[in-house]
Amino acid sequence: MKKISLVLVILLAFGAMAFAGGGQQGGGTGGASAAPLIGIAMPETTVLRWVKDGASLKAEAEKLGYRAELQNGNGDQVQQNQQIGNLLTQGAKLLVVGQLNDGVASAISDAARDKVAVIAYDRIIQNSADYDYYITFNNFKVGQLQGQGLVKAMNLDAATTAAPKYITYFAGSPTDGNAFFFFDGATSVLNPYIEKGVLKVVGPAPKDSKDTANFQRIATEGWLPNIAKNRMENLLTGDARSVTLDAVLAPNDTLARAIIEACLADAKYAQKLPVVSGQDAEAASLAMIKNGQQAMTVFKDTGKLAEAAIILADQILKGVANPVVPGAVLASSIGLESIGDTGKKVVKAYLLDPINITKDNWREPITAGFISADEVAANGLQ
Ligand code: GAL
Repeated sequence: MKKISLVLVILLAFGAMAFAGGGQQGGGTGGASAAPLIGIAMPETTVLRWVKDGASLKAEAEKLGYRAELQNGNGDQVQQNQQIGNLLTQGAKLLVVGQLNDGVASAISDAARDKVAVIAYDRIIQNSADYDYYITFNNFKVGQLQGQGLVKAMNLDAATTAAPKYITYFAGSPTDGNAFFFFDGATSVLNPYIEKGVLKVVGPAPKDSKDTANFQRIATEGWLPNIAKNRMENLLTGDARSVTLDAVLAPNDTLARAIIEACLADAKYAQKLPVVSGQDAEAASLAMIKNGQQAMTVFKDTGKLAEAAIILADQILKGVANPVVPGAVLASSIGLESIGDTGKKVVKAYLLDPINITKDNWREPITAGFISADEVAANGLQ
């Protein structure tokens, strides 16, 4: 009798351990820890869109049944690298990374070491051969829309060599590959007017971002608004003191509003501001477009970018060799393969379409659900 009871006790013990172990691994019960982990590393929250990107990425990943861990680098690449390291330690199977600068490359090589796939999100990861995918908007087209918006808003087609229009240039952060494509897209529209002599640049005048020295002089480190405001104030009392500016090329909305703030403080522009471009369809800028203080912005629906990024991630994790992403085109299929050039490799770059926003369609980002009800109320966008 004793022998049977001992066997029973041993069997019961093993059964309990197996169940508990299975519960921890989420085996038969399919516990939450069974789902693969997608790590999401966003760069900062100064520019509001990144807050929306992070929330959308996490929601889209969980919608497809993944676990998702969202981290925010608060503008510090060292901090973001530590966060990426932690995500790898937690067993992330794929990382979605919105970088701050190419210092991120060391963390991406750690991911490659651990055989963890990486998607560069909205900003290319430069000087790295350790990843294969990049998803963003057509950033050259973003710049073209900015250039076209300024041409229209300052009525440049009516300008003459006897009565030229005057513009000054701002670019985004020199640490951000997008900034170079934004500027090149805009100057591809503006350069023919300069060559005709009907548009004159006040201050540094690079023809494109390959003019590195002059591009660096118009670039705005870290996309920081106070840097743009200070530079605009210096231009108004310096290079631009003896002309009246008709336009300012601003690469995104936070810089556009800082530049407009500087102009509003200058008596010369009390009656008429220069026309100013922008990007990101931020609520505060939609209000300034509605009241005529900002000429345009570019709407990049980060909800769509996040959804597309997670659809791409899902296919990568399922081993699909050539992922197809609805709503995105491969840069190589439209002659823009260079958008995926990291400097060490050409990665697959998926591009979504940006949308031009002016006084005629400023409600579009609200209708699309990109602007929250609180933002509508806070910015008088009813
Ligand atoms: C760029 C991004 C823009 C804007 C800017 C400022 O990389 O493409 O949409 O957000 O950063 O953060």
